[in-house]
Amino acid sequence: MSDCSSCASNKPAPKATTVEYKNLLPTAQNIIAVASGKGGVGKSTIAANFAVALAKLGYKVGLLDADIYGPSVPRIFGTGNEDVIVEDSKIVPFEKHGVKTLSIGNLIEPDKATIWRGPLIHTALVQMISDTKWGELDYFILDLPPGTGDVQLSIVQSLKISGVIAVSTPQDLSLIDVVKAIDMFEKVHVPVIGIVENMSYFVCDSCSKKHYIFGDSQVVKYAEEAGIKLLAQIPIVKDMMNSAEIGEPYAITDKDNIYENMAVKVAKALNQ
Ligand SMILES: Nc1ncnc2c1ncn2[C@@H]1O[C@H](COP(=O)(O)OP(=O)(O)O)[C@@H](O)[C@H]1O
Ligand SMILES: [Mg+2]
Repeated sequence: MSDCSSCASNKPAPKATTVEYKNLLPTAQNIIAVASGKGGVGKSTIAANFAVALAKLGYKVGLLDADIYGPSVPRIFGTGNEDVIVEDSKIVPFEKHGVKTLSIGNLIEPDKATIWRGPLIHTALVQMISDTKWGELDYFILDLPPGTGDVQLSIVQSLKISGVIAVSTPQDLSLIDVVKAIDMFEKVHVPVIGIVENMSYFVCDSCSKKHYIFGDSQVVKYAEEAGIKLLAQIPIVKDMMNSAEIGEPYAITDKDNIYENMAVKVAKALNQ
């Protein structure tokens, strides 16, 4: 039998579903998530080199590879075969080129995590944030997986993110998806610091001319229209790919200071 209207009105209202926000890393001054719509656009390359550039500028930097399904940081920093050290029941991050790094790829066989979903992902991320000796940091950088899934949600709930850097290649298809990611972050009140266009052009060895092989950049147009800062246009450089294969990020020797210029711009944007 159903309740009559007067006794139904006496019942307590159902509890509203609330999302709990925490800050699991209060020792980090600035927390920056590097995001993209698609995979393969250079998110890990940019997160890693940006982290090295910040360290070169004298900042204390941590880099967490939050791409549980496709970790790249151990390869880029050459830590893939190193043993994890635990001190006082906490993981000691790998310190390379002035950056403290940790990745799921350092803890388990990389392909083991491919079937993980919501709660497992959350537990793994919380451990890599809270149960790790990050210490005092000026910048904590997160290399996110592409898109808008469980990891992004977990991160937003677990850390006080200062801002997001969105990465896209010049083409429409990459941009359409990064705009969706930007929208998601704005919906959960995470500010967008700016956008980085990767693989913008390549410089000819013989004539030093810049070739914009993808034509007019859709990213530049979008950034202008949406009022989003264009933080960098990164060229296609063979050494950028090669250096990622041997654990020596390109930014260590970057003679054009591409990543240092980007780091200065980001630091300035966050200070404003
Ligand atoms: N600007 C660039 N110049 C040359 N190679 C690049 C550049 N950006 C990325 N790459 C290469 O492209 C591949 C994909 O980059 P990656 O950073 O792993 O992308 P994502 O993290 O978005 O999946 C890697 O082999 C990387 O070394
Ligand atoms: Mg990646």
